[in-house]
Amino acid sequence: MCGIIGYVGPRPAAPLLVEGLRHLEYRGYDSAGIATIEENSLKVVRRAGKIQALIAALGESDMYGQIGIGHSRWATHGKPTDSNAHPHLDCRKTIAVIHNGIIENYLPFKERLQAEGHHFSSQTDTEILAHLFERFYRGDLEEAVRLGLQGIKGAFAIAVIAADSPEEIIVAKTASPLVIGLGNGETFLSSDVPALLPHTRRMIFLHDGEMARLRKDSLKITDLAGKEIERQPVHIDWDPLTAQKGGFKHFMLKEIHEQAQTVSETIGGCSSWDNDRLRLDEFNLTEQQIKEIDNIYLVACGTSFHAGMIAKQLWEDFLPLPIGVEIGSEFRYGNSYIDEHTLVVAISQSGETADTLAGIKRAKEKRATVIAITNIVGSALERMSDGIVRTFSGPEIGVAATKTFTAQLAALTLLGLYLAQRRGSISLQEVRHQLTALSKIPSLIAQLLDREEEIVSIAEKFYNASDFLYLARGLLYPVALEGALKLKEISYIHAEGYPAGEMKHGPIALIDEQMPVVFLLSQQTAYDKVLANIEEVKARKGKIIIFTDTGDDHQLHRLAEDIFSLPSGERVTLPIRHTVPLQLLAYHIAILRGTDVDQPRNLAKTVTVE
Ligand code: AGP
Repeated sequence: MCGIIGYVGPRPAAPLLVEGLRHLEYRGYDSAGIATIEENSLKVVRRAGKIQALIAALGESDMYGQIGIGHSRWATHGKPTDSNAHPHLDCRKTIAVIHNGIIENYLPFKERLQAEGHHFSSQTDTEILAHLFERFYRGDLEEAVRLGLQGIKGAFAIAVIAADSPEEIIVAKTASPLVIGLGNGETFLSSDVPALLPHTRRMIFLHDGEMARLRKDSLKITDLAGKEIERQPVHIDWDPLTAQKGGFKHFMLKEIHEQAQTVSETIGGCSSWDNDRLRLDEFNLTEQQIKEIDNIYLVACGTSFHAGMIAKQLWEDFLPLPIGVEIGSEFRYGNSYIDEHTLVVAISQSGETADTLAGIKRAKEKRATVIAITNIVGSALERMSDGIVRTFSGPEIGVAATKTFTAQLAALTLLGLYLAQRRGSISLQEVRHQLTALSKIPSLIAQLLDREEEIVSIAEKFYNASDFLYLARGLLYPVALEGALKLKEISYIHAEGYPAGEMKHGPIALIDEQMPVVFLLSQQTAYDKVLANIEEVKARKGKIIIFTDTGDDHQLHRLAEDIFSLPSGERVTLPIRHTVPLQLLAYHIAILRGTDVDQPRNLAKTVTVE
């Protein structure tokens, strides 16, 4: 959730840290701080508020230290104040620590340290680490961190510097992500790849239970017991420009507009057609493993969960198997039937969502096979999985997921077709037909994006509403959920998605002349029944907005305030055709309400706490 960054090399660290924090602000943005070492003493600046507040506090200050760490915070323990902002220091103010995650057992440690005479100056769980490292520090920072972490429970990615070890940063991680960037005579660390892209593409992902000592020209990786580990860097081919706004007002808008390309790159990047067979590049299961699958669970959170709901329905067209969709935080504690013939497909843009990872851990304990659908090379989810189907979306900076959702839908469709083909439950001709339909999605997206102005007009009519309903059936019901989630995330309008047929069982009580009701309509999702639901809303004076791919149906004009006609297409393209205008609607409503679209309140891009 928080963002961490670090640098050691020949350049002044402070500007690099601030630049890195700008890239990471989407991970957490309630306070920020940096620490550098100059003349064997720590220089620390921390501020509540966005990075801008930190920059203002740094002012003209001339921080010239060539080693440093920085942090942007998403509060868990303690309010977003200056004193709770990271880095946190020990009593002597010679050790500085930044931390992403939660130390679950911090309280007994804090009490013991206080009894020993340590003085605490924040309400955070993190501060105990600074005091623990102080307790064990005898001139070897690596050893102090190793000893200090004994008995610590929870999730952490930490970076530590000490005033009298001015040439090294010690990092360690369990559960929270940490990536090390190797430059020429300089070394970086971060919680996320995009922050390092302006400097290097050579990266090493630290695994759980590992530590590293970063110096400007060397890197030593060990486990928490001190045993050395060899690891080669991976080359990340993301374009650094993708992590910039490129002329768009917000990352979210840019990412919505990238979708024709990212869907196309996902289709081409993870699959190929060879010898009359669909192939998935990093899908490692054997013919026998695939044939022995008895049931499937799709496990995910938030937007990725909606992608899973859509995949279930698409897959049921050609995979005759019991398929369940589960929210990570529920699956983790549930009792759903899992054994060695269960396939669990975990969907996560970040590959680091704690709830999803916890669900996967449970599935693995029951000997299930796990496939990851993720956007992040080297993520925890990838490492825990037996096979990968990667999305090729590039970095997604807007907190609201857009391009990664549509890429997930493309990847999931390919995975379903692949499984069906290898199990023999779909004909070659049908696979070809579905792939041809899928290949049309980029141009359908481009057509929709060309009509942004029509969406702006709808947004202008309804942006003052305090509630929204999104109703649809079948394959479009999860799209309604996703449309409602996008709206509430970035505009703070209360919005709910419902199966249209369920409305009469309760939500219909909400409808009055103030309530905008978005209907997603298609001949492929019980058109006549949804039409009847529209009549029911009309009879109760609700304000109806229809997104439809049914051409010009005159009866709709009598019912709706606004109608947005979508291009037609095959069933497999239906969810994406309806998704793109709903993303734009949420975006433009949020703009008109003046919210912070890329960094909406209370949210974080990667949710690494359970
Ligand atoms: C989407 O707009 C949200 N920010 C959120 O629901 C997100 O999809 C969820 O936290 C899951 O993230 P993941 O895909 O990285 O696992």
